This record gives sequence, C-alpha cells and structure tokens, in this order.
Amino acid sequence: MNTNVKNELLNRLFEAKGEPVSGQEFADEYGLSRTAIWKYIKEFEEEGYEITSIRKKGYALISSPDRVNSANILNHLETSMYGRSVDYYESVESTQPLAHDAAQAGVPDGTLIVAEEQTAGRGRLYRPWSSAARKGIWMSLIIRPTLTPQQAPQMTLVTAVAIIRAIEEVTGIEATIKWPNDILINGKKMTGILTELQADPDRVKAIIIGIGMNVNQDEEDFPDELQSIATSLKIATGQHINRAKLIAGILRYLEQYTNMYEKHGFGPIKLLWEGYSNTAGKRIRAVMLNETIEGVALGISEEGLLELQLDDGSVRGIYSADIQIQ
Ligand code: BTN
Repeated sequence: MNTNVKNELLNRLFEAKGEPVSGQEFADEYGLSRTAIWKYIKEFEEEGYEITSIRKKGYALISSPDRVNSANILNHLETSMYGRSVDYYESVESTQPLAHDAAQAGVPDGTLIVAEEQTAGRGRLYRPWSSAARKGIWMSLIIRPTLTPQQAPQMTLVTAVAIIRAIEEVTGIEATIKWPNDILINGKKMTGILTELQADPDRVKAIIIGIGMNVNQDEEDFPDELQSIATSLKIATGQHINRAKLIAGILRYLEQYTNMYEKHGFGPIKLLWEGYSNTAGKRIRAVMLNETIEGVALGISEEGLLELQLDDGSVRGIYSADIQIQ
C-alpha cells in the first residue's frame, strides 16, 4: 500500500468539504486502477471515516473519526512549517525518544510525532506520564529555530503561552501557567511540557518539545493517585473537544511565537507569559534537588528564570524546581 497516495486521497476528501471527489480522476492522476481507490475507501471506512459513494460523481466525506492523524490535523492547519509533516502512531512507549531519533535523522523543521496512546510516557525528572488511548494529546514537535543553546530553555515558556492561547480559542477556557511547565485549570494540572535539546556548544540543532495534554478524560479515567491533582478540558467544559483542531491551534501559535522570539528576543513573550502566570505576587515554596526555599514570586527574568524574593529581601533566580503555592 502506498501511504502517501492514501494520505493524499484523504486530504482531497477533506479539502472537498463534503462535495464528491472523482475516484476516476484521482486514479488517472496517480496511475492507479479504480479498484485500488475503492480499496483505500474501504480502509478509510474501517478506520471510522463515513464516506458515501455518489453515482457518476465520486466519493464524499461525511464524517471523520476522533483521531489525531495527519489528515485530521491538516484539515485545521494554518501554519507554514509546523505540523506539515506528521508521524502518527496508534500506540508507542513515548513520542519523545522517537522525536530525538527523527531529529538526528534530519527530519524537516516542524515535524510532529504524535500518538493516540503512550505506554511509557514520561515527564520532568523521568516521572511517569499517564497517556490513555485517545483521551489526550501526546506529541513531540521537532523544531530548528535560530537560537543559542542558552535561549532554548525559554521555549518551555513560549510553548506554555502558545498552548494557553490555543485552549482559549478552541474552548473559551482561560487556563493559567505554573512555572516552569505546568498548565492548570482550577488549580489542577491539565498540561505538562517537556523541552529537550540537541545542540553543539554554540548552536541549537533541534529542540524537542514534548506536550502532554489531558483533553477528553472523565474523572474516573485518571489513575486514583492523579484524581485530586489532574484535570482535563472535558471536565472543565463539560464537552468533548476536537483534539486535532486543538493541535492545529497549538502549532499555529507556537510557530508565531517562536518566530517572534527569534526576531525580537524574550521581552514580548515574557509580557504575555506574566499575564497568564498564577504565581506572580504569591508566596511559594520552591523544592529543588538539593534545597528548598520560600519567598514571594516576583516574575520571570529575561533568561526565563523564576525570580523569588526571599524573606531577607534578597532576590534569587531559580532554574528548575517544583513549585508549591503557599
Ligand atoms: C511534565 O509535566 O513533567 C511534562 C510532561 C510531558 C509529557 C509529554 S506527552 C508527549 C511527550 N512524550 C513523553 O513521554 N512525554 C512528553
């Protein structure tokens, strides 16, 4: 089976927006038989697409299944680079190492690795990340921006702002950011971001942005230990959310904000980020690997560090920590 031709046929069906696509013309264009096209259509139907055959006109797409495959994402995509190439999987251990391998193999800027399910998803500090089948967005984006390795960690904050904007656009919900990589709704974690780097000493080769987003879980879908601390967009809105549309929105904002960061530095992103932060002005405890400190969160520095005013009045910049709001 030729996957590219099959994808192209599906894209044509989407682009036609319910109007018939001629099987004969498509077959001629690709030098295939009409039976080959008919077989692809049967495969689409088995995958959950509803397609009707209209006599003498062709095939029309009636509805598509709830999948985050390339065609469903492409149907909503408005970017020039991000998400234009998608590697889609039904089930993987984790999209993150697949993205590292793909980046090393030289895939184009903006290539997306996305899966319906992860059996060994991981978060910061190699903590497990629950990634149930078809309930969330489990994806790793490979980007190659013109940034120095020192500027790369701020991509976590750029991504957080992009995700917040996309959530607002698709669902109307206003989420908040808990530095450095959590997105919260009603104080519960809804999204985590894992930014990893492939670099030479003075040059970024690729940044792998892992995004884990709880979208269509009901409370009972979360493992017991997560039920009091995790939430999903469905729990927050009471509605089933189109994951492919949300992915396309995230990619659009992320492309826009990454370009902005490359051209104008971190200043404009910092402003946006601070508008969504749930820690600014609050007393927090920062738990680091070998130290725990308390103070009032002031904001973030140009380097993306969290600035904490300690009780003696001094200000500390924090690179990485678990934050507890007091
Ligand atoms: C965190 O909050 O600790 C970050 C969680 C990141 C999870 C995503 S899901 C897609 C990608 N693959 C993984 O195994 N992890 C990231």
